[in-house]
Amino acid sequence: MVNKIHTLGGYIHEYQKSIANPEQFWAQTAESFYWRAKWDKVLEWDFKGPNVKWFINGKLNITENIFENQLFVQKDVPAIIWEPNDPNEEGKIITYGELFEEVQRFANTLKSLGVGKGDRVAIYMPMIPELTVALLACARIGAIHSVVFAGFSATSLAERIIDAEAKVLLTSDGSYRGLKKIPIKDIVDEALESCKSIEHCVVYKRTGDVISMKEGRDIWWHDAINEVSTQCEAEVMDAEDPLFILYTSGSTGKPKGIVHTTGGYMVYSAYTFKNVFQYSIGDVYFCTADIGWITGHSYIVYGPLLCGAQALMFEGVPTWPDPGRFWDIVEKYKVNQFYTAPTALRSLLALGAEHVEGKDLSSLKVLGTVGEPINEEAWHWYHDHIGKNRCPIVDTWWQTETGGVMISPLPGITPTKPSFATLPLPGIQPVIVDGEGKELLGNSVEGNLCVKYPWPGMLRTLWGDHERFRKTYFSSFDDMYFTGDGVKRDEDGYYRILGRVDDVINVSGHRLGTAEVENAINEHPLVNESAVVGYPHSIKGQGIYAFVVCTEFSTGGEEGIRTSVKKAVAKLIGPFARPDMVQIVPGLPKTRSGKIMRRILRKIAEGDASNLGDTTTLLDEDIVEVIIKGALVDVKR
Ligand code: WT7
Repeated sequence: MVNKIHTLGGYIHEYQKSIANPEQFWAQTAESFYWRAKWDKVLEWDFKGPNVKWFINGKLNITENIFENQLFVQKDVPAIIWEPNDPNEEGKIITYGELFEEVQRFANTLKSLGVGKGDRVAIYMPMIPELTVALLACARIGAIHSVVFAGFSATSLAERIIDAEAKVLLTSDGSYRGLKKIPIKDIVDEALESCKSIEHCVVYKRTGDVISMKEGRDIWWHDAINEVSTQCEAEVMDAEDPLFILYTSGSTGKPKGIVHTTGGYMVYSAYTFKNVFQYSIGDVYFCTADIGWITGHSYIVYGPLLCGAQALMFEGVPTWPDPGRFWDIVEKYKVNQFYTAPTALRSLLALGAEHVEGKDLSSLKVLGTVGEPINEEAWHWYHDHIGKNRCPIVDTWWQTETGGVMISPLPGITPTKPSFATLPLPGIQPVIVDGEGKELLGNSVEGNLCVKYPWPGMLRTLWGDHERFRKTYFSSFDDMYFTGDGVKRDEDGYYRILGRVDDVINVSGHRLGTAEVENAINEHPLVNESAVVGYPHSIKGQGIYAFVVCTEFSTGGEEGIRTSVKKAVAKLIGPFARPDMVQIVPGLPKTRSGKIMRRILRKIAEGDASNLGDTTTLLDEDIVEVIIKGALVDVKR
C-alpha cells in the first residue's frame, strides 16, 4: 500500500527526503506495487534530449495492480458507484470483482477485433461505467487508449483519431446531458468518413435511439462481449511502454498528443490520490470531472482504483433537474471527498445558496478544486456553504502533462490559504524564473513556473513529435520543464497560480489554444482573418473574445456573421469553444513585420483600453481607435 502522510512534520520530513534523494524516495513508493520484474535503475534523465525514464526495465501491468494485487480489496467492495443523468433511473454499483470480469471480457473482445499491444484505441463515450471498462481493458492487453471528450466535434475527433492512427473506436449510440440527448454515433459517423485507420467501431447502447450501423465496421457492444471468455491474462508491459495518449491544446492550432507511460504514471497517480484526498478505505470519493480529461483519467479511474477506493461516477450535469444535484448525490451516497472545478462552483453560487439548504452534507471531509485559479468568493462559498467550515479545501494545481497533482495542500495537514495552491507535493521541485530564465530565489517573487527535476507522472513525449515536445516544454528555459503558467510565491513561501502566460486560454477549466479557435473562425467563407483572446469572465474564468475581419457582409449583416462565426466554432471544435464575443473589425493591430499585437487586443477585450502601453511599433494606429470604439462588453465580465 502506498504510504500516507499524516502530520505537518511528516510532510516536511517526506518532502526533504524526496529532494535529498528523489530516486530512493520514488523507489520506496514504487515498491508497494506489484511488479512482474523489478527495475534495474530508478531514473534516467536529461532535459536537453529530452529524455526521461523511470523504473527502467521494470515489468508490470497496471490492471494487475488494481485487481489481482490488492489483497485488501474484497471482490465485493464497490469500485464504481454510478449515478445516471436522470435521478429517476436506477444507478449501478459495480464491485471490484464485477469490474474485473467486465474488464477481462472486454479485453478479450478487443483482442478478437485484432487489437494488440501498442495498438491505439480511440474512445468517444459518455460517462457510463463501460467507459472505465474500456480504459482498463486497453491497459489489460497493452493497447494505448486515446480518450476524446464526447463534447468535441466530429472534426476534432477525426483529427485525434488520424494523428494517433487508431485501429478501433469505442463509442455509444447517444448520450444524455440534462434534458438534452446528444447523437454521439451520428458525430462518429461523420468523423469516420475521414479516418482510414479505423477498422472497427464498437457501439454501446445507451439511449436506444435509431442509429446507422455500417456493415463490417460497426458492432454492438452487447453482441461483441457475448462471444468471448471472462478470463484474460494481463499483458506484461515495460514500465516505459505508453499507457495512454490524451490530446490537449497548445499555442499552435494542432492539438498535442500527451503520452503517459505505465510504471511512472501508476506510481504517481496512486500516490497523489491517496495523499491529496487523504483517502481511507471505506470512504466514498466523488470527482465531477469527465473521463475525457486528465482529471478523470487520474482521479476517477487510475488513482482511486489503484488505491481500492469507491469512486463515484456521474453521467449528468450539475444543474439538472435543479442546481442542487451535486448535493443530492453527496447526501445519497454519503460522499466523503468531493472534487470539482471552480467554474462549477461559480455557476452554482450564482444560482443561489437555497439549492444547498436542507441537504445533509455532513459526510464530507475533504473538498477539492482543479483546472483554473479559484477566486476568493468561490473559495469562501465552497468553504462555508458546502464544507460548513469543517472541511479543508485542496486547491490542486497540475496539468495534462504532469499526470497528477503537483502543488496542493494536504487536507488537515498543511495550511490552506484561499486562492493558493500552497506547497509542492513530495518529489516536486518548482522553480520561478524571470523572462531570461534566471531563477528567482526566496519569497515574495513572481514569474514563470518551471520544474527542475523529473517526477514519475510526467509526460514522456508528444505522440509522433518528439521535437515539438522539446520545443514546447524545454526550450524556453535551460534544463527545466516549463509549465506555461505564471506564478507568485508569497511572503510565506506559498504558491499562487496566476494563469497562462502563453496563447492558451482556460474556459470553464478547459484549455483552449487561441490559434485553434482562430483556425476554426478562418474556415468561415466570409472571414479574412481573426484574432482571439481571453478576458475575465465571472462564471467561466475566461471568456473567448474574437476580433474578426470579414471579406464582405452576407445578407444578415454584422449580426448574421457574428452568429454564424460562433456556430462555426461550436461545430468545428465543440460547443464549449463557442466564442462569447465576436467583434467585426476593419483590420487587426499589427507591427510593421505583420505580427498581430495581441497585448492590445487583450486590453480592449478586458475593457482596459485606456492603458494600452507602448504602441509605437504599430503599423496603423487608427485601426486601434476604430476597434476601441466598436468594442463589446460582456455583462458577465
Ligand atoms: C492548466 C492545465 C489538471 C487538470 C485540469 C486542467 C490551469 C490547473 C489549476 C489550479 C490555477 C490551474 C493551469 C494549467 N490550472 N489547475 N489549481 N489553479 N490554475 O488540465 O487542461 O491540462 O490545463 O490549467 O493554467 O497549466 P489542463
